[in-house]
Amino acid sequence: KKVVLAYSGGLDTSVIVKWLQETYNCEVVTFTADIGQGEEVEPARAKAQALGVKEIYIEDLREEFVRDYVFPMFRANTIYEGEYLLGTSIARPLIAKRLIEIANETGADAISHGATGKGNDQVRFELGGYALKPGVKVIAPWREWDLTSREKLMAYCEEHNIPVDFSNKKKKSPYSMDANLLHISYEGGILEDPWAEAEDDMWRWSVSPEAAPDQPTYVELTFEKGDIVAIDGEALKAHEVLEKLNKVGGDNGIGRLDIVENRYVGMKSRGCYETPGGTIMLRAHRAIESLTLDREEAHLKDQLMPKYAEVIYNGYWWSPERRMLQAAIDETQKNVSGVVRMKLYKGNATVVGRKSEQSLFDESIATFEDDAGAYNQKDAEGFIKLNALRLRIAAGKGRQQS
Ligand code: ARG
Ligand code: SIN
Repeated sequence: KKVVLAYSGGLDTSVIVKWLQETYNCEVVTFTADIGQGEEVEPARAKAQALGVKEIYIEDLREEFVRDYVFPMFRANTIYEGEYLLGTSIARPLIAKRLIEIANETGADAISHGATGKGNDQVRFELGGYALKPGVKVIAPWREWDLTSREKLMAYCEEHNIPVDFSNKKKKSPYSMDANLLHISYEGGILEDPWAEAEDDMWRWSVSPEAAPDQPTYVELTFEKGDIVAIDGEALKAHEVLEKLNKVGGDNGIGRLDIVENRYVGMKSRGCYETPGGTIMLRAHRAIESLTLDREEAHLKDQLMPKYAEVIYNGYWWSPERRMLQAAIDETQKNVSGVVRMKLYKGNATVVGRKSEQSLFDESIATFEDDAGAYNQKDAEGFIKLNALRLRIAAGKGRQQS
């Protein structure tokens, strides 16, 4: 009857509009969001209209995306498999949520997306969809149609009068890319050989570290309850923080990544990512936590992180386990406020200073100079001896191996 499609305005999703109308004889509602991909979203309106779409949603979700998804994720210092900052993974739950809300508003019973049947994105869109609207029908054209090659797709356009300039010509690229305020990703093309180095002109957001300025750039990041709220003293909205850090990070060659990762569906995939702002943010957040978190709290949080990352990567944002982990993480951030000073230089984001009114750092105790009785060194003797007790017992029984 009626289906809401996540519509980019590009060629593939334009073909999907026609294909849905034809195959399901249904009305298509398009949803296009600006989440900072760096492309105008407004042109999607005329294109959707030309395809006969009557209900067209075009929205600026940049602030919501960073404030309600990216920032909460960064409170956990989240990285997947030790490297990936989850730029694509974290955008999907928001898209899924809006697809369902729009379905409810327009009386649609189905949602559709342009993700292939081989990847993570289909899982993320659909798990989100089912979690928020249990009876929703999902249509994933890439799993159904036989337009399996570029030629077949083009032939379909020809047949159905879909203007080929719906492909983003100037963005013509041999890679499968996905961009938003947190990152831009590249997969496919020559990257399918894990040994082949990416060409330098693939990277769009950052200069290479070799080409970065010979002078460092300093930035001061103000945190409030785990989130950055100002840069160099200037108060900024969530999405403005990332915009600014992406710019200054990219200019200094920060945030390039080239990895092989494990997709949820079971295959390994090689991808390159640029996450300049996120890379700076992660470092800085760890630095402000180093002053303000209790040791055990910090360590436990670090243990939870890989699980939390997997939950997000695999598409379970809208799940009880994600909410449970989020509650624990958010609880730790109450005192994570202060300022971190970062030095950006030729691909490196280095912490050079940190301060906080909630700091647990006690100079009078930590000092190498006279602490005037703040810490009794004699206490350490018993502390160490008791901790050594089980080691001494075992050694006494001949258990110690050297
Ligand atoms: N492999 C990354 C992930 O699963 C990036 C996916 C990029 N998606 C895309 N449609 N090009 O999060
Ligand atoms: C896709 O399959 O549409 C992109 C890759 C992924 O989702 O992992």
